[in-house]
Amino acid sequence: MTDSMTELTILQPDDWHIHLRDDSALATTVPHAASSFNRVICMPNLVPPVKNVDDARAYRARIMEHLQASDLAAERQAAFDPRMTLYLTDRTTVQDIEMAAQSGIVQAVKLYPAGATTNSADGVTDINACVDVFEALERHNLPLLLHGEVTQNHVDIFDREKRFLDEVLAQIIIKFPTLKIVMEHITTSDAADFVLAQGNHIAATITPQHLMFNRNHLLVGGIKPHFYCLPILKRESHQKVLLDVATSGNPKFFLGTDSAPHATDKKEAACGCAGCYSAATALPLYATAFDSVGKIDKLEGFASRFGAQFYGLPVNESTITLIKTPMQVPAGYPYFDGSSLTPLMAGETLPWSIKA
Ligand code: NCD
Ligand code: ZN
Repeated sequence: MTDSMTELTILQPDDWHIHLRDDSALATTVPHAASSFNRVICMPNLVPPVKNVDDARAYRARIMEHLQASDLAAERQAAFDPRMTLYLTDRTTVQDIEMAAQSGIVQAVKLYPAGATTNSADGVTDINACVDVFEALERHNLPLLLHGEVTQNHVDIFDREKRFLDEVLAQIIIKFPTLKIVMEHITTSDAADFVLAQGNHIAATITPQHLMFNRNHLLVGGIKPHFYCLPILKRESHQKVLLDVATSGNPKFFLGTDSAPHATDKKEAACGCAGCYSAATALPLYATAFDSVGKIDKLEGFASRFGAQFYGLPVNESTITLIKTPMQVPAGYPYFDGSSLTPLMAGETLPWSIKA
């Protein structure tokens, strides 16, 4: 493959970490996600959270209603398959896990340390209190998805991911040596190295913003709330390592956008919400990142093969074509109740687009 490649057809990708939100927000987020992705792993941090199979089933039905009500092409509607997650709380039971494993719709369980991020107040306060639940996950081969940040007030926000690796993940791995784990949205070389040092049951997702940007983009020349997400963007040396591992062809690293919509006025505020919205433009964003290091040929593995492999699912059969024709990221999208949604890189031009 050469730098001059101008068109790339890959197997249809999946998004292994997305926030679709709920109710009227779904009218915007579902068609955006379904236009590019077949399977999406839907994060459970709703208010109230998705805590058991009944919640997951009801949430999935609301997603499908909005899919059917959208004007998305019939073949994209038919291909879209939202896979659900349960939100682990201090009160999750072994029975919740067993029912999830048998449900056919729950793909994984998500652990948010309490207070780590948006709507995580119900998250786990003490990992040691979850031993029986972790054993049940391990027994049923249900992956544990981690928001990998410690949450103690005194820990510097830029150190929270590394501290989680050292203080929490290292312990989980020792106690549950065959538990499948995804470190979600990794942001540091420490996380990349940690995952590389483990067996193939430990993997990581990487977002477009952590491949394309670093904390200077967030903070130099004025604070840019649309680059604010959690875990927060780190220094450039970390960004470079993430780009290295994502484009290395190593199947431990795969696509998870962490597309996390918040209405524009909730981000452009004195206390702005964390989350970058990328569902509609994720593929051109990733293509731009991969092409920036001459590795566009590695995109298909990252976007369309490695995640399915990790989850033990077949790869998709349809394809999507990316083309090196510039596209402008919309300045905003209409969101619910008359609000708007500002995407990552709003108004900017990307060199790659999706071929119609
Ligand atoms: C996510 C959200 O808004 O739900 N925000 C974010 O910055 N990534 C939560 C999360 O995944 O941490
Ligand atoms: Zn997320």
